Amino acid sequence: MSNTEDIIVIEGNQKLSGTVRVSGAKNSALKLIAASILSHDICKIDNVPQISDIAIMCKVLISLGAKITTEEKALTIDTTDIDSFEASYFLVSQMRASIAVLGPLIARFGHAKVAMPGGCQIGARKIDMHLMGLQKMGVNFENDHGYLNATTPNGLKGANISLEFASVGATENILMAAVAAEGKTVINNAAREPEIVDLCNMLNEMGACVSGGGSPIIEIEGKNIEDFHGCNHTTIGDRIEAGTFLVGGALTGGPLTVEGINPNYLRTAIMKMRNMGINVESTDDTITVSRDTSKLLKPIEIQTLPHPGFPTDLQAQFMLLACYAEGTSIITENVFENRFMFAAEIMRMGADITLEEHHAIVNGPSMLQGAPVSSTDLRAGASLALAGIMAKGQTLITKVSHIDRGYEYFTEKLTSLGADAKRLSMHEFLEIY
Ligand code: UD1
Repeated sequence: MSNTEDIIVIEGNQKLSGTVRVSGAKNSALKLIAASILSHDICKIDNVPQISDIAIMCKVLISLGAKITTEEKALTIDTTDIDSFEASYFLVSQMRASIAVLGPLIARFGHAKVAMPGGCQIGARKIDMHLMGLQKMGVNFENDHGYLNATTPNGLKGANISLEFASVGATENILMAAVAAEGKTVINNAAREPEIVDLCNMLNEMGACVSGGGSPIIEIEGKNIEDFHGCNHTTIGDRIEAGTFLVGGALTGGPLTVEGINPNYLRTAIMKMRNMGINVESTDDTITVSRDTSKLLKPIEIQTLPHPGFPTDLQAQFMLLACYAEGTSIITENVFENRFMFAAEIMRMGADITLEEHHAIVNGPSMLQGAPVSSTDLRAGASLALAGIMAKGQTLITKVSHIDRGYEYFTEKLTSLGADAKRLSMHEFLEIY
């Protein structure tokens, strides 16, 4: 157990119901902040979640020379004086998504030096497609003592780029460079996530000419970098946070409503919930789940895929649902090579799961028992909290900094829905227990 990190203590056998408002999407806001590098102006981005990943991205921009002020959920980013094109190892190693500054820095300076991110718990997470796309646009890369040194000896040129896999990060980096390239760029097999559409919208508000966002083919007419200006943009709601709370409502019966989310972003997850016997209703910006808990859930088969397929970021939460289903569920992880860390922790709480390569075979129903568990990654951590709410007895979650990366006021939101959860510093914890 780490000496410095907080601990979440959850008393089990509780019910989640009521309404919760989701925060702005982490995976959108991170890239919107990076996109502001393209202007020599002020970008105001609203509905930005106050989470540690956002704090790191802000530090990256400040290290480049940007000025950032925060007022509640709104960030005002002044990029007029950005004069550095180097993202340090110290920052990039804290958050892989910092690599999103590569494309905009190349667009602004024709040059970028960004620390290579390396692997992480959920796999090697290569960036070869980011580099391939940018190389096609005339970028030269050299490996310089752990840094990627990007130069454009003949300028940045539009290109026809086909991605082997619809990578979110590669699509974004190529897009943010292409908006300021000479001529037209076409990205084939582009990622179609709602966060990509949000980024395309903000780029267009800044003066870019991007069409096809949300479809497999994105077309970009390059503009002069001097033509980019500031904007006033509101981040879309976080579909993964919404999905996480909906799973909590579905497990415990609800009714539980999430507000501030377009239900179209979660179409596949909603379909899977209905297949399991969960009632799901929606309006333009709310989704409500409810369930008669005297009946057991039905087992499911899930394969994670790029959007609009089932999101890998909801895989752990649905594995927990599968633990409470009667029969065998099969969950296949196709996006990341090593994303079953949650299974190991939930098995310590009594789940019956067999892992075979990239498949998890979940036999249910299991009546989980509270236990001390460790939050091995962001989504696993949130899923363990939901498991603790369902389980018999007390659950202690350590390494909560993983949860802080992506969930704003997580413990507070859970308690507002009826959970018996508290967050304690190690000092407070040792005094009480
Ligand atoms: C983003 C999200 C993450 C989500 C993922 C998939 C952010 C900050 N993170 O991550 O929450 O789980 O999309 O929806 O937005 N790959 C390569 N070469 C590349 C790029 C990717 O092999 O050049 C592989 C990766 O190793 C991974 C898979 O493709 O196995 C998907 O990666 P990608 O879609 O790029 O995800 P991220 O942008 O890293």
